[in-house]
Amino acid sequence: MDNILDEDRAILKKYNQEHLLNGYEKLDEKHKKELLNQIANIDFELISTLYNNTKKENLQNNDEIQPMEYLDKYKLNEKYKYYEEIGKKTIKSGKLAVVTMAGGQGTRLGHDGPKGTFDLGLNSHKSLFELLSDALKEEEKKYNITIPWFIMTSRENNNKTMEFFEKNRYFGYKKDVNIFFFIQGELPMIDTEGKILIGEDGLIKQAADGHGGIYESLVKSEMTDKMKQLGVEWVFIAGVDNCLVKMVDPVLIGTAIDRNVTVACKSIVKANPHEKVGVFCKRNGKPSVIEYSEISNEMAEAVDENGELLYGESHILCNLFNLEAVERMGRTPLPYHSAFKKTKYIDKNGDLVVPDSPNAYKFEAFLFDAFSEFDDMAILRVKREEEFAPVKNSDDVGVDCPKTARELYEKFHHIK
Ligand code: UD1
Repeated sequence: MDNILDEDRAILKKYNQEHLLNGYEKLDEKHKKELLNQIANIDFELISTLYNNTKKENLQNNDEIQPMEYLDKYKLNEKYKYYEEIGKKTIKSGKLAVVTMAGGQGTRLGHDGPKGTFDLGLNSHKSLFELLSDALKEEEKKYNITIPWFIMTSRENNNKTMEFFEKNRYFGYKKDVNIFFFIQGELPMIDTEGKILIGEDGLIKQAADGHGGIYESLVKSEMTDKMKQLGVEWVFIAGVDNCLVKMVDPVLIGTAIDRNVTVACKSIVKANPHEKVGVFCKRNGKPSVIEYSEISNEMAEAVDENGELLYGESHILCNLFNLEAVERMGRTPLPYHSAFKKTKYIDKNGDLVVPDSPNAYKFEAFLFDAFSEFDDMAILRVKREEEFAPVKNSDDVGVDCPKTARELYEKFHHIK
């Protein structure tokens, strides 16, 4: 142990992170081991680069942004049936897997637990997980097959998620047979001086590395191997927070196959120029998403000759990938975005600091930053009322909240 400690001290000194071992002696054996394990797994070079980037992020960038072409699902005419047939064949031959990104907590909803366990107040009181499971089962019945379901959790919510599924008997699925769980990656949080934070448990304070970590996590956790064994060729990836998500869409699959692209994404028309959604665009000639926090007012409000928003195809986190594309992205580093957050930590004297304003950076990769790695992809515009009812905010915010999601869900399913 002493040797390891000496080695660690040398590494920490090199990166100016020696404080990480300040509380080491006070930890019990289990935590000591865990802390050393954390230190061994941190890419300090990356952390140092990310810290330096936090100072650059506000610089204006010179990317050339252009609108992106899309297909409207309901204006495909005779192609609709054609794409649908191709997609149906693919689904029936067991080539589709569904992945739900459920690493988030329900904090913004005032829910203490994994977001997927949130009850949005339907008469049935079903959780988001159960609503997704119902939808998937219905599709399975339609095609008379089993569609493997992969769920991404985070270190923060994995135990609670597993307990929840256990308690609900996996909603009829069989663990490791047709439902699989994997944990997304994490990155340390740092303060404004670039120092990695220690949490109340004496361990390094880590946070989920964003949904962009999904590709690497799918590969590292060997879920992509599992998919291959199951004969999967296409992977539909979506968030857990859209209770109307249509996970099995033959038209989307057929579109991707016919157009010979390895990624096909759904879009909906932006409700208004300033809706908080990312929009598809071409960035320096490559497919991309421009986030709501990033788009200028002028660009958000620009319209074409028909009066439609030029950048109006919203990204709803409903994306289909060829399995090989997922594997390739699992080996391709994505950029990290930083978010400045308020978080408690233990300072160098061993005292707990409870800040009242943001004090630390958290780093996240975005799934859609992978899009620029592809020369082309298909965008399929679908109907908001059929496929997008996100639960992101509490009811007092008034949009994308349990009340709006409930109404959309009930209307679509003709409940009440
Ligand atoms: C996101 C998209 C935005 C899109 C909108 C549509 C980003 C940065 N932006 O915004 O382009 O228009 O959704 O609803 O994502 N998740 C994880 N692990 C993580 C982070 C997120 O599993 O580390 C999951 C969440 O559980 C959730 C989904 O990803 O299911 C969306 O994440 P969230 O942070 O809520 O994104 P938004 O800001 O709402």
